[in-house]
Amino acid sequence: MKVLLAGGAGYIGTHTAVEMAAAGYDVVIADNFYNSKPEAVRRVEALVGKKIPCYLLDVANKKQLSEVFEKEKIDVVVHFAGLKAVGESTRIPVAYYRNNLDTTLTLLEVMQEQGCRRLIFSSSATVYGEPEKLPLVETMKPGFCASPYGWTKWMIEQILRDACKAEPDLSVVLLRYFNPIGAHESGTIGEDPQGIPNNLFPYIAQVAVGKRPKLSIFGNDYPTKDGTCVRDYIHVVDLAKGHVKAAAYAMEHDGLETINLGTGVGYSVLEMVQAFERINGVPIPFEFAPRRPGDVPECYADASKAKELLGWEAEKTLEDMCRDTYRWQSMNPQGYPES
Ligand code: NAD
Ligand code: UD1
Repeated sequence: MKVLLAGGAGYIGTHTAVEMAAAGYDVVIADNFYNSKPEAVRRVEALVGKKIPCYLLDVANKKQLSEVFEKEKIDVVVHFAGLKAVGESTRIPVAYYRNNLDTTLTLLEVMQEQGCRRLIFSSSATVYGEPEKLPLVETMKPGFCASPYGWTKWMIEQILRDACKAEPDLSVVLLRYFNPIGAHESGTIGEDPQGIPNNLFPYIAQVAVGKRPKLSIFGNDYPTKDGTCVRDYIHVVDLAKGHVKAAAYAMEHDGLETINLGTGVGYSVLEMVQAFERINGVPIPFEFAPRRPGDVPECYADASKAKELLGWEAEKTLEDMCRDTYRWQSMNPQGYPES
């Protein structure tokens, strides 16, 4: 069975490549390296012990993408290829809509022309908007997104829903990720943000290795257990394994399914900082700062559908998440080297 990982050189794609290969899939990657480096793919090859065909292309380029499908005879696609920085998406929204929608539309067209009918899509818990009730269940209506990035996910979900209605042989699994953190336990692959990290864990990791002096905690007056925001953090290796299960499901079923990938447990920012300090034995200096616009106080998944439908549930602990993040950051304080 051959899987194409579109955007597979990135953070979640590389971890998924390792788990897909371990499950017996032949892995093919297509990426334009806009937010990743070729070294990441070489590290995946070292972990899985074989060459991975890797195509340098824009997934929105129909001609080049068609050539990959003709050559590789792809059975199932996982679509990671998108821009994902929430703040940046408010500054250059058109680029976000252009890239994230175009990659999806091109993939759908090429898959139809080439007879590939199985697609897994990287969606986000951000499509729930401001939660009316917790935990978040897939049957809840998608909400009002806080950013153009979020709207691209919302729109792509709708495009895929419509495509599945019109093409009964198409199979799509929308995976709504909660907050992926952590790294492969080898410490050789992990998250490599460009510039100042936007997300909590990469920021904490850079403070831990002395790259940044202190963390700003955005808001300590939320109506939560300790005043800081609560999120459902999930280890990226668990998340990657969820894709393996989703691909197996898509091989057997037509139509569309929407599935949360989270743990079902919420931790506050302060709890995450304290856990990181305790588990790794490093201080994380912090200060409280004003709330960040667009943040919701609490967000965590009802993770039961993934268990029932895919036989998947998160296995790794908060300790694993903290330890593996620190190992990756300590072994690669500057991230991946340039090519
Ligand atoms: P990432 O930026 O590390 O990986 C995305 C990859 O796609 C990068 O390697 C990038 O170079 C590539 N890419 C982007 N546009 C492309 C294009 N037009 N053609 C070819 N390649 C292209 O991000 P990630 O954290 O691995 O996330 C993967 C997917 O999951 C994204 O779609 C993201 O929006 C979604 N997601 C991520 C998170 C998260 O917290 N990381 C949460 C929810 C959803
Ligand atoms: C963010 C995005 C979400 C996206 C997800 C994965 C926003 C509003 N949401 O989720 O759309 O799907 O990333 O990429 O950006 N925090 C700090 N200090 C920091 C960084 C973060 O206190 O330096 C806090 C935030 O206020 C939040 C929590 O840590 O309460 C988690 O933040 P983050 O890691 O950015 O994830 P989300 O905001 O949940």
